[in-house]
Amino acid sequence: MTKTQAQCVRSVAGDSPGSRICALEWDGQSLRLLDQTQVPYKIEYVVCTTDDDVAEAIQSMQVRGAPAIGAAAAYGMVLAALKFQKSGIEAGSALDTDALLRSLSESADRLIATRPTAVNLRWAVERVLKVARETSGTCADIVERMIDEAGAIAREDVEVNRSIGVHGARLLADEVSILTHCNAGALATVGYGTALGVVRAAVAMGKRVRVYADETRPFLQGSRLTAFELMQDGIDVTLIVDSAAGYLMQQGKIDVVIVGADRIAANGDVANKIGTYSLACLARQHGIPFYVAAPICTVDLSLSSGDEIPIEERGAEEVTSIGDKQLAPSGVRVVNPSFDVTPASLVSAIITERGVLYPPFATSLKAACESA
Ligand code: MRU
Repeated sequence: MTKTQAQCVRSVAGDSPGSRICALEWDGQSLRLLDQTQVPYKIEYVVCTTDDDVAEAIQSMQVRGAPAIGAAAAYGMVLAALKFQKSGIEAGSALDTDALLRSLSESADRLIATRPTAVNLRWAVERVLKVARETSGTCADIVERMIDEAGAIAREDVEVNRSIGVHGARLLADEVSILTHCNAGALATVGYGTALGVVRAAVAMGKRVRVYADETRPFLQGSRLTAFELMQDGIDVTLIVDSAAGYLMQQGKIDVVIVGADRIAANGDVANKIGTYSLACLARQHGIPFYVAAPICTVDLSLSSGDEIPIEERGAEEVTSIGDKQLAPSGVRVVNPSFDVTPASLVSAIITERGVLYPPFATSLKAACESA
């Protein structure tokens, strides 16, 4: 994997709408990912030329956010196919489609295993793998169809986010103060964002929007990424420490909470960044609507409740240190769950591209998933 300082001018889905920055760029041979471990101190891209590069970038969170890791992994599958094709041509051997499919299946397992909570990752990888399996013809035909499918996933993500934005913005008053957690913005998607897509659409409708961004320890997606991308777009954003959320609600400063999601179970339980559940409890205590903005591909009807959602545990160093600076005593015991599950009973509505879904979510989610 190499690094480049070049500015991203074009996302995989064309111009990155609603934001001057983009998380992913496909150039036909390689995938450029904005290194989100460095934002906002450095705007630097890592260049992935193999599926292993992409897996490493997802694991290390150079690319993160459920839809973005899905799109990146889709291109990871394309890179795996290109690698297979190139090695065959170099060896002068006939390209065997069965061998390609076997190799793709291994790459798929490796990519899916990088982060367990966001279902979008598995959804995107399986979508590209399915196309590969269903294409009859040569290896070159398969590769071509895979490139088209990865491109479709990327383009659709931006369109879906724009629809989520419009549906969500209609729920908001003309003057509104929104609390958000983590980063569910352009950087977490191919473009525009889910929770921040709602913010962008509301601003575009002429609403007066103020965003409070939780800093989101330990990885600081709120302070590093949400604050950065909203400032880039000139949207009013105020940064708070995670533990200030309840106080601001008590002070009447928050009208609504809007967050993204990594996986939504059939009953409406929502896995999202650690700390989301605490916010939902606080919102209920203060009578504040708690909205989840997510594409339908984040819904996992195969899981009856959030108890079945795998929660990723990340390394202790994320908690004991900030960047290179160690804060905690060496050797202290740490637990670092990266996500939590908010019970459906605390969710006011789920904003999707197919409309705003209300409780009972078991019914509304199933209907929305079946309405394609
Ligand atoms: O660990 P991360 O940064 O990948 O977690 C991201 C989140 O929890 C987001 O809220 C979620 O993926 C939705 S992004 C549109």
